[in-house]
Amino acid sequence: MKVLVTGGCGFIGQHIVEELVKRNYRVAVIDVTCYEDCHVLHSDVRYYHADITENLDDIFEKEKPDYVIHLAAQVDVVKSIEKPKLDATINITGTINILDCCYKHSVKKLIYASSAAVYGEPAYLGIDEDHPQNPTSFYGISKHSAELYIKAFSDLHELNYTILRYANVYGPGSKANGNVISTFIDLMSNDKQPEIFGDGNQSRDFIFVKDVANANIAALHRGDRQTINISTGKPTTLNELVKKLNSLLNKNLTANYLPARDGDISQSYLTNIKAHDSLNWGIEYSLERGLQFTLNQDKENLHDK
Ligand SMILES: NC(=O)c1ccc[n+]([C@@H]2O[C@H](COP(=O)([O-])OP(=O)(O)OC[C@H]3O[C@@H](n4cnc5c(N)ncnc54)[C@H](O)[C@@H]3O)[C@@H](O)[C@H]2O)c1
Repeated sequence: MKVLVTGGCGFIGQHIVEELVKRNYRVAVIDVTCYEDCHVLHSDVRYYHADITENLDDIFEKEKPDYVIHLAAQVDVVKSIEKPKLDATINITGTINILDCCYKHSVKKLIYASSAAVYGEPAYLGIDEDHPQNPTSFYGISKHSAELYIKAFSDLHELNYTILRYANVYGPGSKANGNVISTFIDLMSNDKQPEIFGDGNQSRDFIFVKDVANANIAALHRGDRQTINISTGKPTTLNELVKKLNSLLNKNLTANYLPARDGDISQSYLTNIKAHDSLNWGIEYSLERGLQFTLNQDKENLHDK
């Protein structure tokens, strides 16, 4: 079975590619990032330096993928607010382009990386898949729009799909900008105080990247035409996060509390019951285990440099 991964050189993409290779899938990757910049390069994976908004017929024709895992996106919420047209071009038009290729080249199934950002301000907790969708950023709107296109393509052209809505993903390889766990690890490993906007009691649902990769693999063969949260089902406050990192890093740092930012969501966690039932998937990494894995891997990478 051949799987084409768009955005396969990105943070989550590299973990998915690694898991696919481990499970003996044949893999091809499309990414605008030069593949030499991928942390893990696999000799048996075909890397295409290509933009999802451009004509991809030749690649689809050559690779004839059975499945497509579509991750390539503009992922920066702040940038989406500064450059809504760019965000929409990559996340909406790019997704339509991928859908078109899937239809034309008889792909069996598309797995799409959506986001908790489609829900916006929570009307209740834990957020389930039926929660109203009121995205508050252009990024959230573009992810929501892409979901609608996928469903319409499926209805009109019988394209099979699974939409996975990820909570906050963390793990080795995540960039510090915008990702609270990488940012805290970066600062605290260097004996610097983590900065918290507000009182630190705001919560997020932190899901380890290898659990997300496993959910994508499960979705290749399950969860047809469904939209499914990929989350831990548990809230963690930023204060709890600082405490856990202090304990794992053997430090005693206090957070630097700054004024709360307008528009920041206060509490958030997503239910994962549907993922258990439809994908037969569950988390294998508790927050402690995932953080420990991330710290160990970061140390190994430092030694490799
Ligand atoms: N990281 C998270 O917490 C999180 C949460 C929810 C959803 N997601 C979704 O998961 C997916 C992967 O996110 P990530 O965190 O790995 O981000 P990332 O930025 O590390 O990876 C995205 C990859 O897409 C590539 N890309 C961007 N524009 C492209 C284009 N026009 N053509 C081809 N490739 C392009 C980038 O080069 C990058 O390698 C995204 O769709 C994102 O919206 C991520």
